[in-house]
Amino acid sequence: MSKEPVNVNEFQELARQALPKMYYDYYSGGAEDQHTLKENVEAFQRILFRPRVLVDVSRTNLSTNILGYSVPSPVMIAPTAMHKLAHYEGEVATARAAAACNTIMVLSYMSTCTVEEVASSCNGIRFFQVYVYKRRDITAQLVLRAERSGYKAIVLTVDAPRLGRREHDIKNKMIAPQLKNFEGLISTKVTSDEGSNLQAFADGTFDASLSWKDIDWVKSITTLPIIIKGVLTREDAIKAMEVGVAGIVVSNHGARQLDYTPATISVLEEVVQAVKGRVPVFVDGGIRRGTDIFKALALGAQAVLIGRPVVYGLAAKGEYGVRRVIELLKDELELTMALSGCPRLKDITRNHIMTERDRPRCML
Ligand code: FNR
Repeated sequence: MSKEPVNVNEFQELARQALPKMYYDYYSGGAEDQHTLKENVEAFQRILFRPRVLVDVSRTNLSTNILGYSVPSPVMIAPTAMHKLAHYEGEVATARAAAACNTIMVLSYMSTCTVEEVASSCNGIRFFQVYVYKRRDITAQLVLRAERSGYKAIVLTVDAPRLGRREHDIKNKMIAPQLKNFEGLISTKVTSDEGSNLQAFADGTFDASLSWKDIDWVKSITTLPIIIKGVLTREDAIKAMEVGVAGIVVSNHGARQLDYTPATISVLEEVVQAVKGRVPVFVDGGIRRGTDIFKALALGAQAVLIGRPVVYGLAAKGEYGVRRVIELLKDELELTMALSGCPRLKDITRNHIMTERDRPRCML
């Protein structure tokens, strides 16, 4: 039995030890120079606190409401593909851990367990993430299956008209396993000798023509609310509201798509200001500490999503590892709230933090 990690970063090291290099590289890597990958984490580190003292924090409450669902903390599980590469139980183990923590899980379109397997594995609030394929009938079928299986929202990922250039995967000739969701519909087993098989698969299937007018089509195939994932600018946030989305995820896909996009935490406030409270804004990318979650909430996010830490927990210790990752982040957030004088989430304000932009003003 390996040692018990005391923070999320320690799970990454255990995952590295547990996984074949090809899979660890797939999970941990980003696009091209991996500038944004680093920046997603480092931008959080440049935000400092302005804690308030002598506030009664003898009782803290982290509970919130996400799309009408009451949850004990503002943390959700981001959609990440192919959990069976991390652990033999795959997304079912992740779902059980999420359910044990009453945490909303967003199941990836590219999951290795089927939509139905995950749904029947345990009770829990789950959303389903969707890519639109050139073969729209496949996307429509998957959305229908998710809706029938009790998923509560569609998370439409819009930052991947094509797959970003992930050089580790190209070098490793990353193999995409057959994805059970698509059995009988399309083969996900592409064998290309040149570079990443995943990229070859995506090139053949993802619909690069997808545009704002197609949101009506997505709406026409489901009665579920649609959250749009992958917005980084005020312009697109406004468009998203115009087409009637139920929520926005500020995301750069964990730095796996366009390199040199800003860290998500750096553009969160721009999006929040454009949205003016009309729909909830969520954020993911680089969240590794409870302090990061606090900073995101202070900048206006209603909740955060975590991607890699979940996969690292799963690879290191299966279902238990995912549970520990969620618990650690929640415990750290709770302590951060106590130490900064915020007993409830609604007590967290913009004044509790200091970004680089604020610093000259504060130094005067
Ligand atoms: C992802 N992400 C992702 N997003 C999505 O919409 N569908 C998907 O299938 C995947 N797959 C995926 C695989 C892996 C290995 C990673 C690391 C990421 C992006 C994911 O939802 C999320 O945006 C980022 O992971 C958030 O950044 P952190 O928490 O990993 O830093």
